[in-house]
Amino acid sequence: MKEIKVHLSTQEKAYNIEFPKDFNSLDERLLKQISGRNFLLVTDENVFEKSPFFNSKVRSFQSPTLLKNILVLPPGEIYKTWETVEKILNKAFELNLDRTAVFIVIGGGIYGDLVGFAASIFMRGVPFVQVPTSLLAMVDSSVGGKTGYNCTQGKNLIGAFHQPETVLCCSKFLETLPLEEVKNGIAEMVKHGILTDSSHFENLEKLSKTHLKDGDCTELFKLVPDSITIKKQIVEQDEKESGIRGHLNLGHTFGHAVEHLSNFEIPHGRAIAIGTVMATQYAAERKLCDWDLVDRIENIFNQFDIDLVCDFSEKEIFKAMEHDKKKKDGKIRLILPKKIGKVEYFEMEN
Ligand code: GLY
Repeated sequence: MKEIKVHLSTQEKAYNIEFPKDFNSLDERLLKQISGRNFLLVTDENVFEKSPFFNSKVRSFQSPTLLKNILVLPPGEIYKTWETVEKILNKAFELNLDRTAVFIVIGGGIYGDLVGFAASIFMRGVPFVQVPTSLLAMVDSSVGGKTGYNCTQGKNLIGAFHQPETVLCCSKFLETLPLEEVKNGIAEMVKHGILTDSSHFENLEKLSKTHLKDGDCTELFKLVPDSITIKKQIVEQDEKESGIRGHLNLGHTFGHAVEHLSNFEIPHGRAIAIGTVMATQYAAERKLCDWDLVDRIENIFNQFDIDLVCDFSEKEIFKAMEHDKKKKDGKIRLILPKKIGKVEYFEMEN
């Protein structure tokens, strides 16, 4: 069987997103990627302690010579800070890395963003390899080169565009991923289907009727390359987000308001699903799409068992969105769906 690869080409870099079939293949691919270079591998405690990738003697990264190049850091959004970036940089200095070295990150979106940012500034930029361990990181944050960290003024406000050298997506990480985490990724996959590709949406719709009842991600993972292809087509047209890349924010303006109002108790994927339904309702109220579209989008999230219940009033949500407004010259630009496969910018009325 021909191995699947997605090729992404930007002004900064061209690279492949590859899908090693198991942890042994991932191990081989990583050794090949390092190929004689010095390296720093960063991961978080959850992945290091729980994932069979690190807990098998057959794997290269168990050998003492390679283990010394691994930095294990605590998991969680609260660690997405400059202090963690400094720890990564200090470890790179301790290992005497220079500009010929490569950084590798095995983790979810938080560490993907942090290590990517550290790689963008270490010695004015070294290459890095993304090995996403969550579905959300596979279909979204590991692809496209957005890196950064949170500061007191807000999330991801400091960062850089720094494209990875390669992305290695291995489905085996999904076997130990909690179901709620899988759902976070599904919400982004559904979003990709709404943006540009009705066949991706239809495939997800079919899957939603049978899938996840037993927590098996095999069929879902088969649709991951399609989701990544949609994102890569958008990134290739607009690497630095001056236009169409903003479409990837579908559901995010309403979704972020819901996330904030819940004090982040509503996880990102669920908030984005709720936000996408709200954006579609908003579009239908203005006759920019049919009410059937609202039903269809609501239905797919329900089928995937993504909880759309949200107790905040319309007034509270619009007020929380005002927060966004200040940051965007007093205007909120929403992304609204017109039909499956087509969205457009819409300037919100005051
Ligand atoms: N997560 C949206 C983007 O990469 O642009």
